[in-house]
Amino acid sequence: MRYISPLTSALFERPGPRSISLLGSTGSIGVSALRVLAKNPDAFTVVALAGARNMELLARQAIALRPPYLGVLDADKAACLRLLLPSDYHPQTYTGAAGYEALASLPEADLILAAQVGAAGLIPALAAAQAGKIICLANKEALVLAGHLFRRICHATGAVILPVDSEHNALFQAMRGHDAHIERLILTASGGPFRAKSLAEIEKATPAQALAHPNWSMGAKISIDSATMMNKGLEIIEAVHLYGMLPQTVDVLVHPQSIIHSLVEYSDGSQLAHLGVPDMEIPIAYCLGYPRRLHLGLPRLDLASIASLTFASPDTERFPCLALARQALEASPSHTVVLNAVNEIAVQAFLDHQLSFPGLARLIAHVLDMHQTVSVEDVHAILDLDALARCQAAHMIKEGQC
Ligand SMILES: NC(=O)c1ccc[n+]([C@@H]2O[C@H](COP(=O)([O-])OP(=O)(O)OC[C@H]3O[C@@H](n4cnc5c(N)ncnc54)[C@H](OP(=O)(O)O)[C@@H]3O)[C@@H](O)[C@H]2O)c1
Repeated sequence: MRYISPLTSALFERPGPRSISLLGSTGSIGVSALRVLAKNPDAFTVVALAGARNMELLARQAIALRPPYLGVLDADKAACLRLLLPSDYHPQTYTGAAGYEALASLPEADLILAAQVGAAGLIPALAAAQAGKIICLANKEALVLAGHLFRRICHATGAVILPVDSEHNALFQAMRGHDAHIERLILTASGGPFRAKSLAEIEKATPAQALAHPNWSMGAKISIDSATMMNKGLEIIEAVHLYGMLPQTVDVLVHPQSIIHSLVEYSDGSQLAHLGVPDMEIPIAYCLGYPRRLHLGLPRLDLASIASLTFASPDTERFPCLALARQALEASPSHTVVLNAVNEIAVQAFLDHQLSFPGLARLIAHVLDMHQTVSVEDVHAILDLDALARCQAAHMIKEGQC
């Protein structure tokens, strides 16, 4: 089986509304998912919502939907949330990593939306896989860290991973009914805010400029990843794990209009693409409703008004993170753990004005250079290596070594 998990699951045939645990409900993906649910109120029941620090938004969402379970980062946030909820509503509120893990494996939930950001999403996504759930996976970092574990666990438990990331969702849609004789996957990339900037301009980039993505409105971390093109690097790794491809058969094509969301190439040279307006509601809805398509009421794609679609090869001189991700993927699974950990530290340091934009790639390259392959065959080994790489990266930033 090429695909990471079985897709003929009995989970899809359950009658009645699908019950959902929504992890990361206060983020960009979470808010878009709630819009999709609001447009299809009879198809879903929300049993859990989880944010981390934004208690005002989580409280508003919880009051509107009244799920029996909520999740927050820690006890202080839970106390703050309690003050914001009405006296006649008493959800069970879970805290911290163990709490998110519990919400990901609730017996009441058929489907988990894994939309937390970064490595924090790994343990809940693995818990959902262990529990045999339908996992609508936005958190690409989970696959970058542990794609090999997900494959094993999903096959053992019957859990299903549906890709929310727009490119992987596009590939999934293009492959449906056409999953034989695939030779190449082509991930499209907008090129981010610095696509047309010179190296000299990119070297002076500020966090505000890097956060201003031309086509997509997203959380801070993925926006910076898009500016460095590390996002596309992480997506190559994600595609390799999801679709059982060799690294060299996953390519990147810069396509500034973000209308073609990715393409699948077959042995006869045919390419099948998925097109749509750039709105995350489309891939989210495809996953939440799978195999049914949901109603969204979005503006339709009007190719005549767009008139021209353009394409280019990626430039790894101006965007070295793309090459670093590929090198890590080709080196070993432990290299991709280090890549992800250092990238998360680097992105936060850049946002905090402690690291320059070119410093991001330099830091990742330094720590990757020092890394010697280790076994990451279980989750403890992954978490230990993640912690070590974060320490090394933080130390280098502190010492001004980048
Ligand atoms: N945004 C997109 O268009 C897009 C597209 C494709 C894939 N993705 C992927 O989807 C994931 C979410 O992206 P996003 O843009 O929605 O991010 P975001 O807007 O930053 O939201 C992140 C969510 O994770 C929660 N969170 C933050 N730190 C956490 C922690 N330590 N433990 C548990 N939860 C934590 C946040 O809670 P609070 O806000 O309450 O603190 C929020 O609900 C990422 O992996 C991203 O790569 C996003």
